Amino acid sequence: MYEEEIHKRRTFAIISHPDAGKTTLTEKLLLFGGAIHVAGAVKSNKIRKTATSDWMEIEKQRGISVATSVMAFDYGGHKINILDTPGHQDFAEDTYRTLTAVDSVIIVIDAAKGVELQTRKLMEVCSMRKTPVIVFVNKMDREGKDPFDLLDEIEKELRISVRPLSWPIDAGQRFRGVYNIYEEKLDLYAPSKQHVTESIAFADVRSPELEKHISPEQAVKLRADIELVDGVYPPFDAEDYLKGDIAPVFFGSALNNFGVKELLDCFLKIAPSPRAVGALERIVHPEEERFTGFVFKIHANMDPNHRSCIAFVKICSGRFERNANYKHVRQDKMMRFSSPTAFMAQKKETVDEAFAGDIIGLPDTGNFKIGDTLTEGEALHFKGLPSFSPEMFKYIENADPMKAKQLNKGIEQLMDEGVAQLFTNRFNGRKIIGAVGQLQFEVIQYRLLHEYGAQCRWEAASFYKACWIESANLLMLDNFMKRKAQYMATDREGRNVYLADSAYVLNMAQQDFPDIKFHFISEF
Ligand code: G4P
Repeated sequence: MYEEEIHKRRTFAIISHPDAGKTTLTEKLLLFGGAIHVAGAVKSNKIRKTATSDWMEIEKQRGISVATSVMAFDYGGHKINILDTPGHQDFAEDTYRTLTAVDSVIIVIDAAKGVELQTRKLMEVCSMRKTPVIVFVNKMDREGKDPFDLLDEIEKELRISVRPLSWPIDAGQRFRGVYNIYEEKLDLYAPSKQHVTESIAFADVRSPELEKHISPEQAVKLRADIELVDGVYPPFDAEDYLKGDIAPVFFGSALNNFGVKELLDCFLKIAPSPRAVGALERIVHPEEERFTGFVFKIHANMDPNHRSCIAFVKICSGRFERNANYKHVRQDKMMRFSSPTAFMAQKKETVDEAFAGDIIGLPDTGNFKIGDTLTEGEALHFKGLPSFSPEMFKYIENADPMKAKQLNKGIEQLMDEGVAQLFTNRFNGRKIIGAVGQLQFEVIQYRLLHEYGAQCRWEAASFYKACWIESANLLMLDNFMKRKAQYMATDREGRNVYLADSAYVLNMAQQDFPDIKFHFISEF
């Protein structure tokens, strides 16, 4: 019924290791869409490097970035929704969750640095979900790695097959542009920041015409490279890309606006419109008439005078309407939303309707938690993203005995927002918070005090990893849990979690209890 609206939507995220050029690329895409008119407008979105040790400053900047959490614009008959992801690695879980709300991903890689840690972790999430990815190798205007080596590195490190759809002509000072394999064009490089490239239709690099545009040495090299590319990589198949089996690769320079339009044009041709989403009960198709959606992110307002949040909802099917009644499935109650917001580039504005593929923000005062489903009445539960084993652990203790209730309430709500993970030690009942980075502990302590009037104290807990355990061999499981009683905990869903105190001990446990499965993500 709303097919036309839905099929023109492209909802995706740009991910990268910090500094590879995500912000710059996003900005250039917005310039093409006419959503912004000057370069530099997206910079406020970025957590400044000088502020990395001061998380209040980071939060302030994150506050600014609510408006740019989703950047929507129209381009070439499409409605594009770019979902922003926090650059700071301590908020990596936020990024993982955002990836549950996109239909595809563009990965930015720095040509000199190659595949970096954060990119690898994010790619793991994409692989788990079979999300189609396109790779943009950035900063070709600088000296970088050899393109063939880079492609090998991407295949090995990101564990995905690649297919270059453009090919660089030299790099650094001598960078001359790319041969656009996908469109059979020669895109020549002009290092001026706001201009689109000179582009010449060029079907066959073997033609002697090539020497008219690039130097003889470059022409010889390009011919040899293209021959090798065609020999090594199979022809591009869009179906394989959509299945998440192959990643097309483009080369360019975001800062110089080079190769960006080509990336965008190809992206619009091959990237998926909203895809079917799996709920526990059934698969939900975007074209279905009835509205369904789920909460993938909750952004708290850090201002203590306005203790409200914005719940970000990805619409999975149908059409969302302002002031209509929708069912909050977990709480089994009907709700109406009078001021849903959409995010047009830099502005937040109230919307009357939105369609599958869109993201809307719903003002909330504690009704929602991550993963909640909204429908027109059907009892559906969308499958979210499992939690990953945290990397840092601390005991959380009450520092003000008069405020135990406030503390517990605060902890529960912060966990609902997905700020960190809570485990309870089965042996002594102590509460353990697991997080990805130190900043999360600081955020929790500050927010407990300012929003709930509760004071907490951290105590060192030297755990190495949280492993969700299961076994068909109940005797062995029971035996293990007795032996490791001091290290056994439960997560918020009541599942058994073993908190290993070192890699060595974990290794021994895996050897001694072969029938027990140790999982490092919460769903298996
Ligand atoms: P991020 O969001 O992935 O963290 O990266 P961002 O776009 O902020 O880019 C990081 C740095 O890399 C910036 O420089 C940016 O100007 C530069 N950069 C991005 N694309 C290119 C490119 O194609 N070529 C070159 N040579 N540099 C590029 P900065 O000095 O850290 O910041 P700024 O002062 O320029 O804002």
